[in-house]
Amino acid sequence: MNYKIAVVEGDGVGPEIVAAAKDVLAAVGKRFKHTFTFADAPMGGCAIDKFGEPLPQSSVDTAKASDSVLLGAVGGPKWDYAPKRPEEALLGIRKALGLFANLRPVKLYKELADASPLAERVRENGIDFVIVRELTGGIYFGEKGYRNGAYGREAYDVEAYGEIEIERIARTAFELAEKRNKRLLSVDKANVLLSSKLWRKVVHDVAEDYPTVVLDDMYVDNAAMQLIRRPSDFDVVLTSNMFGDILSDLASALVGSIGLMPSASFGVANPALFEPIHGSAPDIAGTGTVNPVATIMSAAMMLRLSFNLNAEAAAVENAVAKAISDGCRTKDVAGKTHTPLSTEQMTREIIARI
Ligand code: IPM
Ligand code: MG
Repeated sequence: MNYKIAVVEGDGVGPEIVAAAKDVLAAVGKRFKHTFTFADAPMGGCAIDKFGEPLPQSSVDTAKASDSVLLGAVGGPKWDYAPKRPEEALLGIRKALGLFANLRPVKLYKELADASPLAERVRENGIDFVIVRELTGGIYFGEKGYRNGAYGREAYDVEAYGEIEIERIARTAFELAEKRNKRLLSVDKANVLLSSKLWRKVVHDVAEDYPTVVLDDMYVDNAAMQLIRRPSDFDVVLTSNMFGDILSDLASALVGSIGLMPSASFGVANPALFEPIHGSAPDIAGTGTVNPVATIMSAAMMLRLSFNLNAEAAAVENAVAKAISDGCRTKDVAGKTHTPLSTEQMTREIIARI
């Protein structure tokens, strides 16, 4: 089979991690007899520089015409004061493709347990949960603007969620919970926010269609604390766009590095989009030290979720796990005990195990 993948290298470390994932996909293609063809879809700061737009229409078209989208990272200090920010491309492409569901698996590799800042007694039962983040609604997409307020010029961003938006992301989470351990935690701030009250009501209504799943609710502030105190108790965590953004960075720290965490974003139609949860890391861009695992694991999610290539996805995941258990480490997780590998060396070690 031939699969057409739109590729967004983006900014900072983006090109380095995307190159790593493309090499891994090429290796998978060779072993399993598929061809993956890549079409560049420039977005972010580099697109601002080249086209004056963070999200050129031609890139949206390229993405829409592909079977799947692989994205590195966008943004950087160079565009901090640009009239349009690179991040608009990311939000824009998620919206343009209708990618309302974002899965962020959080898994502690036992060999990397030392990279986790958690005490051994907290992590000894392992960490393995998935954050289901709503991705095209809420405060990141709500009405925003400036107005005059009691304290002078005021800026505002509106958090709003519609029932249909909540229902469809809740169904995604319940279906995932059915396939896992049948426990779902919905995280909100229903003690304060009306949008969270509606969220909670709709999630409980949807729960009636999934009688085998045990549903719990937690306020987001408490969830942040419990994730650190007892991360092993979490399984599927359903939450809004902003809470999911924040909690997933927190979660990545629990497992040792944000450079390990992949994500998949999908909607009702194809294509879906796959990207690491981390950003463009301008401080280490070009140094060849970025951890490619988050992006490579995102490519594995693509193989499974976009192309239904389960054996191929497992081959990548196992190769990553094997490389890690064999002691291969990039700088972010090397600690004092390992000599850090470069991005390219780490990628080669993974490919050698596919
Ligand atoms: C993420 C990122 C993005 C987000 C930023 C870069 C706009 O933090 O994917 O988590 O907030 O969604
Ligand atoms: Mg984020």
